[in-house]
Amino acid sequence: MNSQLRQEYLDALGLTSWTLRGSRTSSVPASTPAIVSTTSSATAPAIASATAPATVPASAAYSRETSAAREEAADWPELRARVAACTRCPLSATRTQTVFGVGNPHADWLIVGEAPGAEEDRKGEPFVGRAGQLLNSMLRAIGLAREQVYIANVLKCRPPGNRDPNPSEAAECLPYLERQIALLKPKIMLAVGRIAAQNLLRTDKTLGALRQQVHQFGLSQVPLVVTYHPAYLLRSPTEKRKAWEDLKFAREVCSRV
Ligand code: URA
Repeated sequence: MNSQLRQEYLDALGLTSWTLRGSRTSSVPASTPAIVSTTSSATAPAIASATAPATVPASAAYSRETSAAREEAADWPELRARVAACTRCPLSATRTQTVFGVGNPHADWLIVGEAPGAEEDRKGEPFVGRAGQLLNSMLRAIGLAREQVYIANVLKCRPPGNRDPNPSEAAECLPYLERQIALLKPKIMLAVGRIAAQNLLRTDKTLGALRQQVHQFGLSQVPLVVTYHPAYLLRSPTEKRKAWEDLKFAREVCSRV
């Protein structure tokens, strides 16, 4: 992509629309985010160390090994049934329905958000409100249709009033997501927003500190990239430029897996 085209891009993003440009395998634009370290090769994005368990906030501490084993052996239908029947935390009393996840069960990309909102709670599908529409546009901008990816949340039930999930809710619910990841075997995970990133990476680092690095999720070491939550981008549209950089970064990481 030449620099004029690229500028037109950014102007367009500037933030009025997210438009599909180029293919997933196109060469890296000049603005490709800095690589965190150079331990692997001169060109390949390196793995960040931000996943070190030492950064786990005490409030979010739980045993991933134990929790990962909880849903072991469940296939997709069994897992879906377990989620639908779940009463492991008080959110089961206030939800309309659980929001399991949606998309291609063979997807390369797994997008992970925080928790269902009011619209998602009503429809039973993640990211169907305004934030979902922006997420769809963001995906399209890197050449991905919503149907091509898999979308899920850290929590399967809506926290009342859209409050942040509390640590015990996240700890009870994460094994479902972990099993989804084990079944899906994505090539890349994109954590959208601070809550998703902190829970997946078991860290209390800020979103700003987690962006633009390749983290690894779990024992299977799935590459994980962090970006802003689309709901935040709706409130702070000038940050879309940074999210665009993150998406290009993630696309580049995925192309190397
Ligand atoms: N925000 C999320 O994090 N997930 C949804 O499904 C909807 C809004």
